[in-house]
This record gives sequence, C-alpha cells and structure tokens, in this order.
Amino acid sequence: MWALWVLTVALVLRSPTLGAAAAPRPNVVLILADDFGWYDVGYHGSEIRTPNLDRLSAAGVRLENYYVQPVCSPSRNQLMTGRYQIHTGMQHQIIWPCQPYCVPLDEKLLPQMMGEVGYATHMVGKWHLGMYRKDCLPTRRGFHSYFGYLTGGEDYNTHMLCCPIAGLNLTRCALDLRDGEEVATAYNGVYSTQLFSDKAISIIRTHNPQQPLFLYVALQAVHSPLQVPKRYLTPYSFIKDPHRRLYAGMVSAMDEAVGNITLALKQSNLWNNTVLVFSTDNGGQTLSGGSNWPLRGRKASLWEGGVRGVGFVSSPLLKKPGRVSKELIHISDWLPTIVGLTGGKYNGTKPLDGFDVWDTISKGLASPRLELLHNIDPLFVDMGPCPSAPSLSTSPWSRSGFNVSIHAAIRSSNWKLLTGYPGCNRWFPRPGLNSSSEGPGAVEAEPLKPVMLFDVEKDPEERKEVSAQFPAVVDYLLSRLQQHQKSALPVHYPDDDPRCDPGPTGAWGPWA
Ligand SMILES: *[C@@H]1O[C@H](CO)[C@@H](O)[C@H](O)[C@H]1NC(C)=O
Ligand SMILES: *[C@@H]1O[C@H](CO)[C@@H](O)[C@H](O)[C@H]1NC(C)=O
Ligand SMILES: *[C@@H]1O[C@H](CO)[C@@H](O)[C@H](O)[C@H]1NC(C)=O
Ligand SMILES: *[C@@H]1O[C@H](CO)[C@@H](O)[C@H](O)[C@H]1NC(C)=O
Ligand SMILES: *[C@@H]1O[C@H](CO)[C@@H](O)[C@H](O)[C@H]1NC(C)=O
Ligand SMILES: *[C@@H]1O[C@H](CO)[C@@H](O)[C@H](O)[C@H]1NC(C)=O
Repeated sequence: MWALWVLTVALVLRSPTLGAAAAPRPNVVLILADDFGWYDVGYHGSEIRTPNLDRLSAAGVRLENYYVQPVCSPSRNQLMTGRYQIHTGMQHQIIWPCQPYCVPLDEKLLPQMMGEVGYATHMVGKWHLGMYRKDCLPTRRGFHSYFGYLTGGEDYNTHMLCCPIAGLNLTRCALDLRDGEEVATAYNGVYSTQLFSDKAISIIRTHNPQQPLFLYVALQAVHSPLQVPKRYLTPYSFIKDPHRRLYAGMVSAMDEAVGNITLALKQSNLWNNTVLVFSTDNGGQTLSGGSNWPLRGRKASLWEGGVRGVGFVSSPLLKKPGRVSKELIHISDWLPTIVGLTGGKYNGTKPLDGFDVWDTISKGLASPRLELLHNIDPLFVDMGPCPSAPSLSTSPWSRSGFNVSIHAAIRSSNWKLLTGYPGCNRWFPRPGLNSSSEGPGAVEAEPLKPVMLFDVEKDPEERKEVSAQFPAVVDYLLSRLQQHQKSALPVHYPDDDPRCDPGPTGAWGPWA
C-alpha cells in the first residue's frame, strides 16, 4: 500500500502534464531584432535612446555573455531547430530569394513542438528560412498564423524587394508580404515596425487566455535600408553621421514597438504569466549605421562584433530578476529552454546542440553550456566591402587534423579560437569619433594568422592574440573543431533557380 502511494506520488511529480495542471504554462513571446548591434542599446552606453529595452531588461535578466550567429538565416535556423548550422547544411551565408532550399523539412521546428503541447502559435515578421516551395512556409512548419515577409530584407514602406535574378539578366522588384499564405497587398505606406507591432498586438488582444500563447515577432528593424518616419529623428539632430542618425531613429521606433507589445500583454492580463525573450539575430552592420563598439568586427564576421548579441529575458516568472548574467548562452539554447518551460518533451527532434538554460537565467545557476561552436564554413567570403582586406596566407595548412584555412571559430570557457579568415578584421570607431586614426577604436590590427586564440573573458575586444603562449589550448580546440567538422553535413548552397521570378506584377514566394 505504502509502496503504491510512493509510486503514485513519484509519477505525479515526474509527469509534465499532471504536474503542469497546478501552474498554467507560461506564454512565451520571442522578439527578434534584425542587425541590432552591441553598442546600439541604451544600457551599453549608446547615444541611441532605448528606454523600453533598458527598463524591461533592468527588471529582468540581461544576458551579457550571449551569442548569436553572424548572419540572419543561420541565427533564425538555430532558434527554430536548436541545432548548429553544420547539422542542417546551412553553414554558408544566408538563403537568397532565388535559391531553391529551406531549413530541411525533416527538421522539427519550435512552433511545431509548442503546438503539440497545446500552445496557440503565431508568427509576425521576417521568416528568411526558405520559401521556394509551400512546404517551407511558416504556416506549414508549425505556426497557426503568420503575417510577414519571407526573404531577408526589403523596403519598410512599400514592402517591395528588388533583387537580381541570376540567369535572367534582370533585377526584379516585387512585393514580399503575406497574411498566412496569401499575398498581402493592402499595406503600401505602412511602416513595417508599426505594422508588425500592430499585428502582434492584435494577436495578443484576441488571444483566448485559456490557452497558452507562443508568439514570435521577428521585426524588420533595424536592418538596412535606412528608412524611418521623420518624427523618430527629432531627438537625434546631434548625430552628425546621416546613416547613424537614421539608424538611431529606426532603433527608437523598434524600442517603441517593444514597449507597445509589452503594454498590450499587460493590458490583456497575460503579462503575469509571460516569458519575454528579446534578442538580436547578429551583430550590427557598420555599413548601415550599426555599431558594435568596442568589439572587433561586425555582422557576418566571427569576431565578437559579429556574434556577441544583445539579449535579455523579462518576466514576472524569473526567480531572481534584476540581474546581469555572465553565463555562456547561445541562440540555439532557446528551443530547449522554451520547450522545457512548457513541460514539453523534445518529441521528434534530431540531436540538439542547445541547452536548457532556464535555471541559469531565472535562478543564476551556472550555465550547462561549456562550449560553443560559432561556425565552420569552408566557403566563406566577405559579404560587404571591408576597409582592411584579408592579408592571410590562403595555402591550406593543417594542424591537429583540422584544415586551418577554413573560416571557423569555437569557444570553450574563456577561450576563443579562430581559424582562416574570420571576416572584416577591424575595430570600428565609436560613433561620433570621426576617423580610424583617432580615439580608442583606432588601433590597426596586426596581420592575421591562420590560428588565433583570445581570452575573451579578459579580452572581449580580441586585441591580444595568445596562441603562442597556450599551445595545449590551441591543440585541444583544434581537435574539437575537427570533431565537429566530422559531424557536419556538406554545405548546401544551391544556385539560383530562375523560375523564382515573380514577374512584373507578382510577389516573391513559392515557385516550385
Ligand atoms: C510526436 O510527434 C509526432 C510527429 O510529429 C506527432 O504525430 C505526435 O503527436 C507527437 N506526440 C506528442 C505526444 O506530442
Ligand atoms: C543584359 O541586359 C542589358 C540591358 O537590359 C543588355 O544591355 C545586356 O546586353 C544584357 N546582357 C546579356 C548577357 O544578355
Ligand atoms: C506605439 O503605440 C503608440 C500609441 O498607440 C502609437 O502612437 C505608436 O505609433 C506605436 N508605435 C509603434 C512603433 O508601433
Ligand atoms: C499579477 O500578479 C500580481 C502580483 O501577484 C497581482 O497583484 C495581480 O493582480 C496579477 N494580475 C493579474 C491580471 O492576474
Ligand atoms: C582547406 O580549406 C580551404 C578553405 O576551405 C580549401 O580551399 C582547401 O582545399 C582545403 N584543403 C584541403 C587539403 O582540404
Ligand atoms: C576629425 O577630427 C579631427 C580632430 O577632432 C578634425 O581635425 C578633422 O577635421 C575631422 N575630420 C572629419 C572628416 O570630420
């Protein structure tokens, strides 16, 4: 009798569905900013004002040792799969509009898992995980509703994207905006930051509070092109650089959108039981007004400026709020963390690279993540003009079994190892300082080496290369890279398919 009672109690405690009956499962709102740089948020000392982000993060937990991928599709891919890019074949660049591929269809995505455990799943904003066929669309991959655009960037007001089509010798300008799977033509002239915020708010206001909510808001802000309604520029007349001024206005609009979404959650009585995650998708783009000062590099590079992300969690459910977390956390960790919060199981996922970091964020426990593979991309080239071109010898050279001509980086506790050409190699000056010969951002980099080691805990600016002092660390991390590379799928990066052409009156979208 007693034994049976013990068994029953144990089952109740162990069963996520029975255990969850007492406390309703939390709503999860995931806001992803685009190309938002390290030095572009108020709480990092930026001249740009972000009162909502500052306030929300101050009341929550700021993640200051938090990493994302260097470009858009890969970060979103890892967010949705909890898996490294080498495990989806997407380790090279982004998905261009005419490339016939998407996140492999045998990958199970976060919204599918949330739907299976009873959540209402909604997405607003930028998809950028492939759309050449209908099976790739957000509505076919777990979201009950979708409103947004499928490619990587476009005009904020017309929602048109102009893109050259290889093989057709033309540049096509066409609409990219959808409500569900239908083309949405009625929004010409509505600024996307406002549009996506309004759509998110209407989902929140009409949500049935009996059901838990999963809402993914992937804002267009603050990716190029630099476009913003004039009223957001008023506070920034002191910024001389016209790119930076426009960018600052865009950040203010985004900050307002986050404030509005949060207010709607409060007004709808959902906030008490909501976990809000805010993250950028990659480092700031210095070519379009962004700044990662004082970090080295920028978007698309494996330097800290490309991968160290702005991120925080705000929620009344945090056990120890009002903290800064220095624990190592990565964008691939959100899937297990969020699924963990729902009491759900990773039913049907492939092996995860992410970790459940809820206790790290909520209670301040040590992160279960001891290592982080930033990427391994054998095909890497700079995506934008870089003032200091690569001065690296390109002759293939192997060490500890790893081909160190390959663009790769790995992190283990305080150590970061880079091989090959990591991407634009420069410390961009602090905004407001006018040239590369002045100010604290001005030190010219030494010539690159095929293998570089930094103690990024002591030296987050990656100024002091220490591979010669720590050969054992170098060999260990190279052997780890080699082990990861052995588990990699071949790079999948198909040629453009000219059948993508939407024609003069069509919209970008599935063609196959
Ligand atoms: C597990 O996943 C499969 C396939 O996606 C699905 O059919 C099934 O309902 C899931 N089971 C649970 C308990 O969610
Ligand atoms: C491409 O188009 C331009 C103008 O539309 C034309 O001048 C050029 O010859 C074309 N090139 C090819 C290879 O067809
Ligand atoms: C935020 O809400 C205010 C008040 O409704 C509105 O005026 C403003 O345009 C909204 N901002 C954005 C970016 O949606
Ligand atoms: C939210 O929680 C606070 C503190 O427990 C409580 O005072 C308030 O009434 C709650 N609001 C709602 C809408 O449940
Ligand atoms: C090493 O990697 C570089 C860059 O990806 C590649 O060009 C070269 O062929 C590789 N060398 C060997 C021996 O595999
Ligand atoms: C940069 O600043 C220096 C001194 O602060 C000044 O002499 C110079 O004219 C400035 N250059 C530009 C391009 O603004």
